[in-house]
Amino acid sequence: MPAAIILGGQWGDEGKGKITDALAPTAAMVVRANGGSNAGHTVETPDGVFKMHLVPSGILNPDCICVIGAGVVIDPIGLANELTGLEQRGVDTRNLLISDRAHVVLPFHMAIDRYEETLREERSIGTTLRGIGPAYADKVSRRGLRVGDLLDAGAMRQTIEHQLRMHGQYLESAETDIDAMLESLSAAADKLGPSICAAEQRVQDTLDAGKRVLVECAQGVMLDIDYGTYPYVTSSSPSAAGACQGAGIAPMQVDRVIGVFKAYSTRVGSGPMPTELHDDTGELIRKRGREYGTTTGRPRRTGWFDAVAARSACRLNGVSEIALTLTDVFDVFPEISVATSYQWNGQPLGYVPANLDDYAAVVAEYQTTTGWLQDITGARRQADLPAGALAYVRSIGDATGVEVSMMGVGPAREQLIHLQ
Ligand code: GDP
Ligand code: IMO
Ligand code: MG
Repeated sequence: MPAAIILGGQWGDEGKGKITDALAPTAAMVVRANGGSNAGHTVETPDGVFKMHLVPSGILNPDCICVIGAGVVIDPIGLANELTGLEQRGVDTRNLLISDRAHVVLPFHMAIDRYEETLREERSIGTTLRGIGPAYADKVSRRGLRVGDLLDAGAMRQTIEHQLRMHGQYLESAETDIDAMLESLSAAADKLGPSICAAEQRVQDTLDAGKRVLVECAQGVMLDIDYGTYPYVTSSSPSAAGACQGAGIAPMQVDRVIGVFKAYSTRVGSGPMPTELHDDTGELIRKRGREYGTTTGRPRRTGWFDAVAARSACRLNGVSEIALTLTDVFDVFPEISVATSYQWNGQPLGYVPANLDDYAAVVAEYQTTTGWLQDITGARRQADLPAGALAYVRSIGDATGVEVSMMGVGPAREQLIHLQ
């Protein structure tokens, strides 16, 4: 069986963690492909709520091998703590593999992230301050420290010294204390060491054995470094192509691209969002959807579903099916709107333009339908759903051109309906 990609179709936080956890029992392996601890993936099970940052969301399934792929940037101290936290809650983490090619986020990358945000002044991105951009910058500048280097103190010191020669001038002295850094990294390496390996070989072995591999992306395609709303994006490719690259999988090995979308839009941080609501409706979505960042606790911006951006996202990523989450948030809404077209300069515009001033000037046009005004959180099968809820889900399929195959009716693992 080939690989399936699970990606975020909007600006992140679509419920990728929940969908990955739900599909993990059908797979032999889950591979996290991109991003770092800027991600926060929530999984709700009978054992409680788990918030994953670097660990793949398949980890709660004991039969699943979990891989952190080469495309991820890893804060080793944060990852060691995340694993300890999971173990203290009874989760078996021995099935975790970490690519020796993944790059390391060092403590000073977080300081640089903070410093650069202040330099951007009113154009700050609103990053998660987890050092993601600076770590990817060091990677592509070919002075990055890789996870495999954590096992070699000499190599580690040499690479960090090089990075500090580049960055030292804008760091505080406490942030350049290389001995303190090496000590805490070595402690983390002791914990992570047994998991570090040529993970991409294990991924290919699993595919060769005819087993299913799930690739879990972080962020969302509107935050993609190339096709998102640059510069208000993250520093990796949360796309289907990025998933292949980050996981070590060839495009021809993929047979499903599952785009996870919310029934509405949210965004954390700055940048244009044509369907944003600044009124009571936006606040009601935030309250009912508990729209506060999993990683930073920041309130998320909210708005109606943007089918123009979604259509574009599906097309660029070959999305073969949609998982529509948080549909239950609309249970109390008498009317629900979906942006089905954009007007720009008096002309229709069918895609997300590169120029952000143009995108900020786009006017979204809506189709509005009546809501179902019924609690759907107890629905478990398609037949349990009111006609209005099913009609809304189908309308998203029509507006995006991609069928909705799964629908979320609440945060819990079992609150997911597979549609016919
Ligand atoms: P991710 O980053 O894409 O994994 O998403 P997050 O975990 O950051 O945010 C999604 C939030 O929505 C989490 O709090 C989930 O528990 C919650 N969630 C996921 N699916 C549903 C759903 O269908 N209904 C409701 N009400 N909450 C959901
Ligand atoms: P998951 O995987 C939502 C956003 C930040 C900021 C921009 C750049 O949970 O969906 P960064 O720290 O990456 O340099 O920040 O990207 N961002 C996310 N928004 N969900 C995420 O991850 C995000 N990861 C980064 O808020 O606007
Ligand atoms: Mg999240």
